Amino acid sequence: MTDTLAIGRYPETDTAALTADFAPRFIDDLAGLDTLDDAARADIRGVAFRGGDAFDGAQMDKLPNLKVIANFGVGYDAIDVAAATARGIIVTNTPDVLNDDVADLAVGMLIAQARSFEAGARAVRSGSWANGDLPLARKVSGRKVGILGMGRIGREIADRLAAFKCEIHYHSRSPKDTPGWTFHADPIELARAADDIIIAIVGGRDTENYVTAGALAALGPDGVVVNIARGSVIDEEALIAALTNGTIRGAALDVFRGEPHPDPRLVALENVFPLPHVGSATVETRAAMGALQRRNLRAVLDGRPAETPVN
Ligand code: 8YV
Repeated sequence: MTDTLAIGRYPETDTAALTADFAPRFIDDLAGLDTLDDAARADIRGVAFRGGDAFDGAQMDKLPNLKVIANFGVGYDAIDVAAATARGIIVTNTPDVLNDDVADLAVGMLIAQARSFEAGARAVRSGSWANGDLPLARKVSGRKVGILGMGRIGREIADRLAAFKCEIHYHSRSPKDTPGWTFHADPIELARAADDIIIAIVGGRDTENYVTAGALAALGPDGVVVNIARGSVIDEEALIAALTNGTIRGAALDVFRGEPHPDPRLVALENVFPLPHVGSATVETRAAMGALQRRNLRAVLDGRPAETPVN
């Protein structure tokens, strides 16, 4: 018998560490809960969660003695936290340890899109470099960048772009203590003031379609949207339309609706620089995320407070 369940696909190192620490039962996704009998489900007190699918109250009810869901990732929009709280289940996440990587990627993607990294690499590989017909790219340093969401990751992005001599604008629920960055009360006002927008808000029901057609229109035909948050925070139909008809100049997207099967219309566009949700995907950061997930799980199972609880 085991009191721990690891849900989702874990790389070898995490599988080994989870096995050493908890000897859990591994299932690929929440559908796997239905393959366990009642006694096995009643034994489970802790879940190490790395699934994309919705962990809602109905799924939680299949594990009547569950005490903790330890999420692998800072974003826990897949977990119904209110349902967990109502059942006395502690939810934990992995904040902070990924801030640097995600911020590095956001800045890298803004530059990659503006400086046409993809077209440039293609020209070198194909030999079309010799034709000398690569169009000039666009400058990034000194642009006015709007950060949507001034949390831990947004702040790291802003700090980096300040070093690129960018003027920093931001929108968040309330004004923050910043070194002179300009607060805007809503996304449209932010888009109007900024040249480009980087989205770093949390996903979930509250921010669904937060970036609207109106915000994209306010950004305008010279603007680039970078999204390292969640696909759900942009109205994706409006984004496809804006990229297709020149309402905005381009986008750099690490996240999509329907991952890992993004809308083919979106990723086929030449003015989109897409990546496969790799914001935290470095050896160093994934190791830190896994270790924090396991510390949280161990703490709650041992009756101690979690290191990074969300409820
Ligand atoms: C994923 C992320 O967790 O932390 C988050 O919220 O989006 C990522 O770091 C990662 O893909 C692991 O599943």
